[in-house]
Amino acid sequence: MTTSSNLVYVLNGPNLNLLGMREPEIYGSDTLDDIAGMLEDRARELGLEIDMRQTNHEGMLVDWLHEAQAEGARAVLLNAAAYTHTSVALLDAIRAITTPVIEVHLSDPKTREEFRHLSYVGMGAAKTVEGHGAKSYLIALEAVANGEI
Ligand code: DQA
Repeated sequence: MTTSSNLVYVLNGPNLNLLGMREPEIYGSDTLDDIAGMLEDRARELGLEIDMRQTNHEGMLVDWLHEAQAEGARAVLLNAAAYTHTSVALLDAIRAITTPVIEVHLSDPKTREEFRHLSYVGMGAAKTVEGHGAKSYLIALEAVANGEI
């Protein structure tokens, strides 16, 4: 499968559908739709195409990672939310595909509760961008455009 595609999957895990109203003091006031809009605008400028999705189900994220590879996506931006800290299945899926995955978080989990310090996603990801609020997604997209990953 070609890696010259301009397609970037942006996969979002559990509870991120509630962004904007969910603990705004931690995650900010942007909704997931706001973030999708920002990413689409920037992607257009960078000559990339975004496919942005959200699910509350772990296995769906696994299926979408496989799909990203099958579709020849250039990269995946993955905010696996709480599954970041629990999911060996996601780590295995990231390792099972050759499509590079960038781990993304709005907050900086390393400065929060200890149970958030472990990241299975980070063990397989090509890069991690965290702690910049909604901008974390944009920084990750720039890394794809720059050929950093
Ligand atoms: C998060 C951080 C995770 O620890 C948490 O479970 C989330 C969101 C973030 O984007 O900051 O749901 O991934």
